[in-house]
Amino acid sequence: MRELKLEAARLLSEATGKDISPGSFSPAPSPEVGWFASNIAFKMGGPQAAKEIAGKIRSGKLTAKATGPFINFLPKEGYSKKLIAKILKEGPAYGRGEAKKEKVMVEFSQPNTHKAFHVGHIRGTSLGFALANILEHYGYNVVKANYQGDVGAHIAKCLWAMQKFHPGEMPTEHKGKWLAGIYREASQKLKENPEYEKEVQKVFHRMFFEKDPKLMALWKETRQWSLDEFKGIYRELGVSFDVRFFESQVEEEGVRIVKKMLKDGLAKVDDGAIIIDLGDLGVFLLLRSDGTPLYSTKDIALAVKKFNEYDIGKSIYVTGSEQNHYFAQLFKTLELMGFKQAKSCVHIPFGLVMLPEGKMKTREGNVVFYEDFAAEAKRRALAEIEKKNPSLEEKKGVARAIGIGAIKYSMLKVSNNKKIVFDWDKSLSFEGETAPYIQYANVRCHSILEKAGRRGKPGDVAANALLYQLSRFDEVIEEAACSYSPHIVANYAYLVADAFSTFYTHQQVIGSKNEDALLALVEATSIVLENCLRLLGIEAPRRM
Ligand code: ARG
Repeated sequence: MRELKLEAARLLSEATGKDISPGSFSPAPSPEVGWFASNIAFKMGGPQAAKEIAGKIRSGKLTAKATGPFINFLPKEGYSKKLIAKILKEGPAYGRGEAKKEKVMVEFSQPNTHKAFHVGHIRGTSLGFALANILEHYGYNVVKANYQGDVGAHIAKCLWAMQKFHPGEMPTEHKGKWLAGIYREASQKLKENPEYEKEVQKVFHRMFFEKDPKLMALWKETRQWSLDEFKGIYRELGVSFDVRFFESQVEEEGVRIVKKMLKDGLAKVDDGAIIIDLGDLGVFLLLRSDGTPLYSTKDIALAVKKFNEYDIGKSIYVTGSEQNHYFAQLFKTLELMGFKQAKSCVHIPFGLVMLPEGKMKTREGNVVFYEDFAAEAKRRALAEIEKKNPSLEEKKGVARAIGIGAIKYSMLKVSNNKKIVFDWDKSLSFEGETAPYIQYANVRCHSILEKAGRRGKPGDVAANALLYQLSRFDEVIEEAACSYSPHIVANYAYLVADAFSTFYTHQQVIGSKNEDALLALVEATSIVLENCLRLLGIEAPRRM
């Protein structure tokens, strides 16, 4: 599409003597009327001017037609063959943007050890992974990063409860989940008996200041339990990272930086704690009065480490929107420190995920663990397969692709900041804007090709609405990347699937006169669908 718009902008500029950019086009009322439209004639006399300008446009690629004050553009015959040939040739690289010099780090997922990986984490993990993939497809060099909270008050709380209420107890399986249960119990106990807080603090001190060997050994062992569990989750989600940061790696450096800020007069002591006054943004706490590091202490060191060690031009943080104010304060603090890349730190927040039962938070006791949630998705997907296609091979694998895909898609199709109320039936439906619907469209493409037993040959086809969608992929990637919005790709994937379904309802492929070209179109559709699904981190099964 970008190529067509460039051509249209050039021709319009020639015809009007004005400087017209390819970004100035708007969508036409429908792909039948035009693939895009210009309103340049608006300010030049309206319908009459539109007619005159359209009459001046001579192009091998495009036709221009005036409708009222608008000039609508459509590709000429011959374009479909070229487009399909391009998609088949480029395959997974179709829609890629120009290579950019800048390296971008995307930090996402960030579960804390000793706590549950819950439904909210699935959203952040899916969103961050998709965003990283989309930025990469757009041409950036992307570093995917995780940052796990493996030290701090919550760890002390968990280990304290383990020693106090479960001495000698050791789980034999699902160790990470067991640990998250202990953490939850600890929170409960502390709520009922606030005087326990002192004991937890003592554990924290013995860990941070004294590096108590017994506690450190327990920490190391239990930390690994969580990490092992997360590893399994990432495997199932099909998500990987290029770097893993841990809070334990940056706590000492954080304390050092904060103390230097105090020495430099940038920070000050308030009631024993170290703080920085950020004016409108309020007071930002940098170090506890007992000298132990905070979340903020560590983040300051992490921000610096990322730029110093990874040669990045931009640092993106994907987290829940409840941290909006926190990140505004963090970035402002970095700026006041004179850290010149502070301006290149970007916070991408996402909204809460609610289940019909309520908010998914560890502290509230009713958290739904990843494992149970995913199991439910796979169970429902399997039941659907048993109903629709009982003789399918590899049912379990396909059920995973559909079930996990359905969860991810239902979270990815919504714009980042919108709250989600998760709905099982809607997410797993084979109709509507869902992963199964898109996956199924792709399966149909493959079964047509399989039935034909051969690949087609690019040629001219009359499938305007579908071609229009396929052509748009490069623009969709650009828009999604530039606005950090994976939902644009998710919504687009549905439009492609839907355009294909409409096409296929009306058009016989095998046995038609134009079979070769139509088979190539079907293959091109499948390539675009699979590209979308891959970028979104959703599997594309061949059968379902
Ligand atoms: N682990 C944190 C949490 O569970 C999120 C970390 C977000 N990233 C950051 N650099 N602060 O809330």
